[in-house]
Amino acid sequence: MKKGNILIKNAAELVTCSGFKGKKGKSMSDLHIISNGAVVIEEGVIKAVGKTEELLKQYKEEDYKVIDASNKAVLPGFVDSHTHFVFGGYRAEEFSWRLRGDSYMSIMERGGGILSSVRATAEASKEELLKSAIKRLDSMLSFGVTTVEGKSGYGLDYETEIKQLEVMKEADNHHPVDVVSTFMGAHAVLKDYKGREGAFIDFLIEKVMPEVTERKLAEFCDVFCEKNVFSIEDSRKLLTKAKEMGFKVKLHADEIVQLGGAELAAELGAVSADHLLQASDQGIKEMEKAGVVATLLPGTAFSLKEDFARARYMIDNNCAVALATDLNPGSCFTESIPLIFALATLYMGMTTEEAVTALTINGAAAVDKADKIGSIDIGKKGDIIILEFPSYKYIPYHIGVSTVEKVVKNGILVYNR
Ligand code: NIG
Ligand code: FE
Repeated sequence: MKKGNILIKNAAELVTCSGFKGKKGKSMSDLHIISNGAVVIEEGVIKAVGKTEELLKQYKEEDYKVIDASNKAVLPGFVDSHTHFVFGGYRAEEFSWRLRGDSYMSIMERGGGILSSVRATAEASKEELLKSAIKRLDSMLSFGVTTVEGKSGYGLDYETEIKQLEVMKEADNHHPVDVVSTFMGAHAVLKDYKGREGAFIDFLIEKVMPEVTERKLAEFCDVFCEKNVFSIEDSRKLLTKAKEMGFKVKLHADEIVQLGGAELAAELGAVSADHLLQASDQGIKEMEKAGVVATLLPGTAFSLKEDFARARYMIDNNCAVALATDLNPGSCFTESIPLIFALATLYMGMTTEEAVTALTINGAAAVDKADKIGSIDIGKKGDIIILEFPSYKYIPYHIGVSTVEKVVKNGILVYNR
């Protein structure tokens, strides 16, 4: 991707979110704001950060593309650290069944749910998948997202899993938004493997994952650790092998049933454990100790009409909490960052400062990139958003509406409303 030189000056608030690792507990409230701030980006990398008057003494405006951010807040680009944005088909019908009372898991158990997206993804050509994926990335970018994590898992066979990962790689090459890829072959169980989940795990380990590592198609490995999907034992086996093969690991943990996914994430030293609606006190404590990022997905709880994850409890117990959309065709078909802010602040007891941290530096930590993105610090990627309002406080306040006016990616203005 192209890299640029840009100077942003006069920001009413330069919300740096400064830091090079995930922020835990109380420190999630520190946004490190510089008033009347400026940022200098050279060759796509942040070169200087400070007060406008100071920076303009050292850097000449004629050497850069200049953006005047008077009366506007400037923040790091958002990191959406959990999505399933590559898929074929839609499940609008299933949404209406859920409105009438069917549960997410009951639809899955009768062959719908994830399995219906699996069929549609197998039928879609690579070109079709890429086209729809790029459209979704465009939409995410308009919400201020500059890095997104995406998962396979609508394949479940060799061919389609690899196809999904190839599409993600191409999307990364053809779109300004950076894509972090996760292999999630263990996302559901096909009919042939029902009751033989262990054999399916062996198939993934032996037949699919070597190709994924060899071709560097994914950095992370994830599993749907859930009652009637993959057990704690299956998940442990898969992720232990994955680590040996060089993957970093994540889990869909304790989403519907309290299975001990949070504890397993801590045991394995996972980078993140995600969902956690049912995570136990003990599991949360162990995650904190092991430094596992708790990635909460309020859009999914909302869409499934489940109770939200205990964000307040986790932060009060010193966890690092990240927020993400979980964009997928089933449990949560949204890429809306404003919706996530609204739910986190109005329903999960998070402050605006904590929510900003959760979508920037902690989102970066959830994809193991807090040293490269997620804050406005010297040496990090020049990924920046400019709001139409003078303060970050407008983000959840303008309920459900995007406040993002401009997005700079690698020092290049890529979105301008
Ligand atoms: O994160 N829980 C499992 N996986 C996804 C849903 C995928 C789907 O329904 O298509 C999730 O919610
Ligand atoms: Fe998910």
